[in-house]
Amino acid sequence: MSGGITLLVDGEPVTGAPGQSVAAVLVAAGRPGGVFCGMGVCFGCLVTVNGERDVRACLRDAGDGDVVGTQPREPS
Ligand code: FES
Repeated sequence: MSGGITLLVDGEPVTGAPGQSVAAVLVAAGRPGGVFCGMGVCFGCLVTVNGERDVRACLRDAGDGDVVGTQPREPS
């Protein structure tokens, strides 16, 4: 058994593996967004995770059931 995890990305379920970063899951799902450096430098990968804004997807471990939003930040 693979023990995969499922994230909800912009309302769509996307599967990944435990220990992957949110960015890795997005890239594997063909939704790379702004992932450029993959190591927390470029800030291109900002997403919302479970309502938390400005999370760098490449530095956040993906968790089963995480709700990820890849839209650009909303105007305040
Ligand atoms: S990909 Fe560059 S900060 Fe995440």
